[in-house]
Amino acid sequence: MGAAMLQRNPETVMLTARVKVWDVFVRLFHWSLVAAITVAALTGFLADAAWIRWHIAAGLAAAGLVLARIVWGFGGPTYARFADFVPRPAALFEHLSEGPRHRGHNPLGGAMVLAFMAAILVLAVTGLALLGGVLKTGPLASLVSFDTGHGFGEVHELLAFALLAMVALHVAGVLLESRRSRENLAASMLTGEKEARPGDHPSRPVAANAMAAAAVMALLAAILLAANASLASRPIPRMPVATLDPVYAEECGACHMAYHPSLLPAASWQALMAGLEDHFGENASLDEETAAEIESWLLANAAGTADTKPAHVLARTAEANPFTLTETPFWKHVHGDLPEALFASKPVGSASNCAACHRDAASGLFSPFAIDVPSPTRINKETQQ
Ligand code: HEC
Ligand code: HEC
Repeated sequence: MGAAMLQRNPETVMLTARVKVWDVFVRLFHWSLVAAITVAALTGFLADAAWIRWHIAAGLAAAGLVLARIVWGFGGPTYARFADFVPRPAALFEHLSEGPRHRGHNPLGGAMVLAFMAAILVLAVTGLALLGGVLKTGPLASLVSFDTGHGFGEVHELLAFALLAMVALHVAGVLLESRRSRENLAASMLTGEKEARPGDHPSRPVAANAMAAAAVMALLAAILLAANASLASRPIPRMPVATLDPVYAEECGACHMAYHPSLLPAASWQALMAGLEDHFGENASLDEETAAEIESWLLANAAGTADTKPAHVLARTAEANPFTLTETPFWKHVHGDLPEALFASKPVGSASNCAACHRDAASGLFSPFAIDVPSPTRINKETQQ
C-alpha cells in the first residue's frame, strides 16, 4: 500500500529522505536485550533447576545492558539521549490525540523504555536477593535471610509477569504505530534508518561522546565487580555445620549416607532416636552413651539452627512420617517428575541415596547448581544387564 501511494504521488518520493535515527549501540542493545529477556523468561517460567545458571546469566546480562544503555542515554547521539525521549506528561496526552511524528521514541514509547529499564533493574536486584537469601549464593548471600529472600522471590515473580505484559504492550504499540505512520518500525530498529518527513517533531541534534560513555561504562563495571568481590568475602550467617561429628558419621552412615543434621527439625531427630530398635524395619540401636552423644549433636545442629533452603522446606515433615525426608511434601513435589526406574537404577539404588544425584548432599546445602542426575543411557544399560 505504501509503495502504491508513492507511485501515485511522485513528490512524496522527493520529500522522503532517509535519516539515521538508531545508532549501532542502540540497535545492538535492543536486540541483545530481546535475546536476554527471551532466555531469562523461558528458563524462569518453564525450565527446572538445571537451567537456573542460564536464567541468572541472562538476567544479569539484561541488567548489564540496561546499565550501559542508561550511560548511553547521557552520552549517545541525538535520539539515544534521555533528553530526546523522556516524555513530559502533557506530551503523552498530545501524542494520544495525534501529536507530531517523532523520529526517535515517541512519548508513549519513551515512557515504555523507562518502565522497561526500571522493571529489568528491579528484577535483577530481587533475583539476586532471592539467590542470596534462599540459595546462599551470589553477592547478597551474607545480607539476606531465607525468609526475606523468599519475599523478594514473590516480588520477582510478579514483576516477571508485569514484564511479559509490558513486552506485549510494546509489540502492540510498535505494530499500531507502524500502521499509523506507514513505516515498519521494527525494520528501522534493524537498519537504523527512518524517513525524514515534513512536520516531524524537532530534535536538537547532539553528537555522541563515545569515549566518555565507554569510560563511564568501564568505571561502572569496575565498581560493580569490586562490590561483588567485597560482598562475596563476607561470612554468611547461619550456615549449616560444616563437618559431621565423627561418631555420628560412622554410626549413622553405616547403612545409608549420613544425613546432614540441618535436614530435619529437632523434634524429628528426637522421634527417630527414640525408635532405633525398629528403624525402617532394621535394628539400628546403639548403646545409651553413643545414642545420647549423637542425639545431642543432632539437636544442636538441627534445621532450626540453619537458614538454608532444605532446612526450611524439609522441616515441614509429613505428620505420619515425622523423620522420613522422602515423605515430606516438598521432597515429593520437587522429585515427582523423576521416573521410578531412575531411583531403582544401579547408580542410585534408592530415593534415600541423595548423594547419587546431589554432589553437595553431605553439606546439607542441596544447591540446584550441584545436581548431577545419572544419565538415562547408563541406567538403561545397567538395568538391562
Ligand atoms: C542397620 C542399618 C541402618 C542404620 C545403622 C541406620 N539406618 Fe537410617 N535407615 C535405614 C533404612 C533401611 C532406611 C530406609 C530408607 C532406605 O531405603 O535407605 C533408613 C532411613 C533413614 C532416614 C530417612 C531417609 C529417607 O528416605 O527419607 C533417616 C533420616 C535415617 N535413616 C537416619 C538415621 C540415623 C540418624 C541413624 C543413626 C542413628 C541411622 N539412620 C542409622 C537403615 C539404617
Ligand atoms: C535420582 C536423583 C535424585 C535423588 C536420589 C535425590 N534427588 Fe533431590 N533433586 C533431584 C533433581 C533432578 C532435582 C531438581 C528438580 C527440579 O527442580 O526439577 C532435585 C531437587 C532437590 C531439592 C531442591 C533444590 C533446589 O533448591 O531447587 C532438594 C532440597 C533436594 N532435591 C533434596 C533431596 C534429598 C534430601 C534427597 C535424599 C533424601 C534427594 N534430593 C534425592 C534429583 C535427586
